[in-house]
Amino acid sequence: MNKWFNRLSLSVFAASLPGILTTLTFAAETNIQDLAGKDAPTGAVWLDTQDLSAVGSGWGVVGAGKAVGGGSPLSINGRKFVHGIGTHAESVAGVDLKKTASRFLAAVGLDDETSNGGSVIFQVWIDNVKKADSGLMRGGDAPKLLDVDLTGADRMVLVVTDGGDGNASDHADWAGAAVFATGNPVKMVASDFKVQDMVPNVMPVIASCDPAKTSINGPRIVGTTPGNPFIFLVPATGAELKDFSAKNLPAGLKIDSQTGIITGSVEKTGTYPVTLSVNGKGGSVSRKLVIEAGNHKLARTPPMGWNSWNCWAGAIDDAKVRAAADAMVKSGLAAHGYQYINIDDCWEKERDPNGDILPNEKFPDMKALADYVHSKGLRLGIYSSPGPWTCAGFAGSLNHEEQDAKTYAKWGMDYLKYDWCSYVAEKDSGLEGLKKPYKVMDKALDNCGRDIVYSLCQYGMGNVWEWGEEAGGNCWRTTGDITDTWGSLSAIGFNQNGHEKFAGPGHWNDPDMLIVGRVGWGPNLHPTKLKYAEQITHITLWSLQSSPLLIGCDMSNIDKFTIDLLTNDEVLDVNQDPLGKPAGRVADSNGIQVWSRPLLDGTYAVGIFNTGMDTVDGTVKWSEIGIQGKQPVRDLWVKKDLGDCDGQYTVSLPAHGAAMFRIGRPNKD
Ligand code: GLA
Repeated sequence: MNKWFNRLSLSVFAASLPGILTTLTFAAETNIQDLAGKDAPTGAVWLDTQDLSAVGSGWGVVGAGKAVGGGSPLSINGRKFVHGIGTHAESVAGVDLKKTASRFLAAVGLDDETSNGGSVIFQVWIDNVKKADSGLMRGGDAPKLLDVDLTGADRMVLVVTDGGDGNASDHADWAGAAVFATGNPVKMVASDFKVQDMVPNVMPVIASCDPAKTSINGPRIVGTTPGNPFIFLVPATGAELKDFSAKNLPAGLKIDSQTGIITGSVEKTGTYPVTLSVNGKGGSVSRKLVIEAGNHKLARTPPMGWNSWNCWAGAIDDAKVRAAADAMVKSGLAAHGYQYINIDDCWEKERDPNGDILPNEKFPDMKALADYVHSKGLRLGIYSSPGPWTCAGFAGSLNHEEQDAKTYAKWGMDYLKYDWCSYVAEKDSGLEGLKKPYKVMDKALDNCGRDIVYSLCQYGMGNVWEWGEEAGGNCWRTTGDITDTWGSLSAIGFNQNGHEKFAGPGHWNDPDMLIVGRVGWGPNLHPTKLKYAEQITHITLWSLQSSPLLIGCDMSNIDKFTIDLLTNDEVLDVNQDPLGKPAGRVADSNGIQVWSRPLLDGTYAVGIFNTGMDTVDGTVKWSEIGIQGKQPVRDLWVKKDLGDCDGQYTVSLPAHGAAMFRIGRPNKD
C-alpha cells in the first residue's frame, strides 16, 4: 500500500463516523510536508494549475501559488508552499468533479503576509454536505490538513468564512490543494453556494411577556437638568392598568394617573428616590425609580428607542415619524422602556436669511410633530453634522451650532445624533481636531435650555471611546454603519471588547442601531437577513455591552418573534442595569466566546456565543467571571431558573447563536 492509499482509508473511516469531521490531525506532519513542494503527489493535480477566474474572494486578487495581498509566495506559520490558492474571506470556490475524483488534500491557514492577523474557518462541502472544517484558525496558527474522500462526488465547494470578527486581514491559503482524479477532469467553476444558507434557521424558544401580569419595566434611574422640561412615561405592562402614582416626586414634577406620564421640571439639584405604583387586573405593583437632577446627568442608562435610518433612510417624513410613535405605543414597546423616536438624516432643507435651519417639505411643522410625540410620553430626536453637509448632502451645523441647538430646543427635541460626514478638521490638529467640533456642539446644547441627549457619530475615529465623555457625549458610535448580515453584525459586535472600560452611566459605547425586524434603508423594506439565532446573538451582545437599543425597523409591521426579542424585560434589565458596567470578553476558544458583566444586585450577566457554523456546547466557568462554588443560574431568554450549578454551566448553542444567563446570589438589600 502506498502512503496516500493508507491515509485515504483513514479519512474514509473518519468521515463515516457520525459527528466526526475529516480534519485529520494524525500524520499531519508528513502530509503537509508532502504538499509543500513543486511536484504533485502521484495521481493528483494541483488545483492552482486550473483556471482560477471563478474563485470568489472577499478582497484582493486570487493567487495561484501566491498570497492574495501582495502576491508573495504562500506561507503559513513560516511554512512555505510552492502550490496552492491564496484567497480572502468570504471566499467560495466550486470544483466540478464529475464523479471521477477520489480525494482532496490541502494544508490550510492564514498567510503570514498579514503578520499574524485575521481569523477564519475553512470548510469543504461535497454535494451540499459539509465534509471538513478547520475550526477557528487565527493568523500565526500552524497549517492544518484537510483530507476529504471524494468518491462518487459531483461537486466540491471550498469555503472560507470569517472567524466571527469581520474579514479584516483574512488572507486565507488553500496551500498544496490537490485533487486525486483519473484523467484531468477537475475544473474550477463559479458557485452560487452561499455560506449563510448553510446556517440552519431554526426558531429558538424564547419567552414572551405575560400580558396578564402587572409589571413596571424599563430604567430604574433617569436623569434631568434642574429647570429644564422633563418627560417620562412609566413603562408598565398588564391588563387594564390604572391609578399610576409616584411617591416622593421632586418638587416641580407631576404624574398623570391615567397615562403614567411624568412631566414638569425639577426645581433643585438632587437624587430623588421615587416609588412608582400602578394597579391592574393582574395585581398592583410598585418599583423604585431614582430621578437624578443636576448638570450632565442625562442617559444614566443607555438610551432605548427607535431611529429612522435603518428603516426609511431618505424616505422618512412627518407621517412616518408619527406612525413610529403610534406603533411604539401600540406594539407594546414603549411599555418596556423604549422611549426615543429619533429622526435621522434627510429632514433638513436650507437656512433662512437669519441663518436658521429649515426643515424640508416632508416636515411641515417640527414643533407640532414634537408635541405629538410628547403627548404619548415619548421623546423626539434629531440629526445633524458638524460639517457644512450631512452624510446625505443636506445642510449641516458648521458655524451655526448655537443657533441650531436653540432651534432644536424651541422645537422640543430631546436627542441629537451629530454625524461627522463632511467636517474637515484643521490641518495637523490631531486628536484635538477630532474633539473640537463635538465640544462646540456640547457647549451649545448645554446652553439651549433643554435636555438633549448628545450622540456622537464619527465611526470610532481616534479611539473616540477614550475621549467621547470628555467631549460631552452621552454615547458615541464606535464603528462604521451596520447592515443586516452576519458578517456586519459579528464584525461589529465581537470587536467591541476593551471598549467597556470607557463606558458608564451618562456615557456609552454605541456599536450602531438594531437590525432586527423589517429594515431596508429606503422605501422598500425586507425582513432582516439575520437568522433567528443571529438575532439572539445581536440583542444579547448589545444588552451585555450597555449599547443604546435603537430599533431600526418598521414598528407598525412587526412580527411576534421580533417583539419577544425586544421586550424581554430580564434581558433589558441587563442593558439598563443602574451599575452601568458593560461586559467584556472573558473567554474565547474554538469559536465559543463568553462575555460577562457585574450587575448592581451582586449577580453577573453572562452571554455565551457560538461564532461557528455547527451546533456545539459552550461553557462558562465561574473562574472566568470571578465567582466560586454552587451558584444559581437563570436563563434570561427562556426566563427559567436552572438551579444551583457548581463551578460552571454548559449549554448547547446553535450556529451563530447565543444564550444569556444571570448567575449568582443577589445581595440582600
Ligand atoms: C452615516 C451614519 C448613519 C446615518 C447616515 C445618514 O452613514 O453613520 O448612521 O446617520 O450617515 O446619512
